[in-house]
Amino acid sequence: MQVEHARKVSTPLMGHQEDRTLSYACWSSMIGGMGISIREAQRQFGAGVAFLNTATYGLPPLAAHEAMLAAERDRAAGLMVPTELDEAVARSRAAFARLLGVPAARVACGPQASYFVGLVAASLPRGAVVLVADGDFTSLLFPFAARRGVVVRSVPLERIAEAVRADVDVVAVSAVQSSDGRIAPLEELIAAARGHGARILLDVTQAAGWLPVPAAAVDWLVCSGYKWLMGPRGTCFFTGTEEALAGLSALAAGWYAGEDVWDSIYGLPLRLAADARRFDISPAWQCWAGHAPALELLAGVGVAAVHDHDVALARRFQAGLGLPPGDSAIVSVPVPDGTADALRRDGVIASVRAGRLRCSFHLSTTEDDVDRALAALSAHLAVGSGGSGR
Ligand SMILES: Cc1ncc(COP(=O)(O)O)c(C=O)c1O
Repeated sequence: MQVEHARKVSTPLMGHQEDRTLSYACWSSMIGGMGISIREAQRQFGAGVAFLNTATYGLPPLAAHEAMLAAERDRAAGLMVPTELDEAVARSRAAFARLLGVPAARVACGPQASYFVGLVAASLPRGAVVLVADGDFTSLLFPFAARRGVVVRSVPLERIAEAVRADVDVVAVSAVQSSDGRIAPLEELIAAARGHGARILLDVTQAAGWLPVPAAAVDWLVCSGYKWLMGPRGTCFFTGTEEALAGLSALAAGWYAGEDVWDSIYGLPLRLAADARRFDISPAWQCWAGHAPALELLAGVGVAAVHDHDVALARRFQAGLGLPPGDSAIVSVPVPDGTADALRRDGVIASVRAGRLRCSFHLSTTEDDVDRALAALSAHLAVGSGGSGR
């Protein structure tokens, strides 16, 4: 399927007009994997529990886990070579770019989403209006709310596209809500933003890796790496169009933002990388060592295959609970207090968000995990309702 949408794009914030072809062919669903099957990939995981908690943190594939530990062992042995770990950052950047369908030269690597969101917030003039979704993740909201003179307008996610008006400068929204897995109406939002000359900052922390996302059709995109991209905490990616990136200052640049990193460790003049690396933050080395193999595994399986796998398991879970099928890899269900703890005692790991049980289904998850979760849940609910469960 190839759908081309060409619209006149107006970007008054930067006093700039351009023609841009929004090509949904760039959505990462179109980017095939490299032939690694789900079954093969699943041999890469070693958790002894039914892990339904990727929306909190991702399980590392064994090769990724081992690479991180190896880097740390090298450090303890005094044998770590920092320059060699630059390769892990470069490999991660390349694999993320491939996964999202954007050029690696437009991908910056840093530690956390809020840092990159802060760069966008800092670029906004006084009086700028930022539209957000009610209850979105605070790393996407606080940097704007903390910026003096910026007006943050919050609306229900379902109404975000229609809330884009001529006075909106930026729409900042998560592609998938952390609290309950709802998916943002991205096509409508992109059309509305283009129609009114607003920019979009899309947070794909809860989406990239399982949901095809329109990376090439938004202005900026941020993705923390420790959930669906299965990295350790401490890795994050940021990308955008050339023109939108050009509107940001490299406010927290250090030596790793230099054109030649190891020639940028002392003294002026400022010599930033010409590409998106100018927004890089010096890497937590072990984290990047542990992320590269995980990203390469995901890219090898491909987002389309992971999507089908994850959503099929989510639907199996929903069917087991008598719920209608959804489209998300995150399922949120109302349960009595204490349910997550009871499940944990039964070896089923999920979390509680917004007062509901949040279960997430990813590459490592099997049908057995789903069935184990359903059995544990029904046993717990039967006990709670005075039934004869365990
Ligand atoms: C949508 C979203 N963005 C960002 C983050 C993490 O933010 P940070 O990298 O600033 O810790 C999360 C974590 O749950 C999230 O769900």
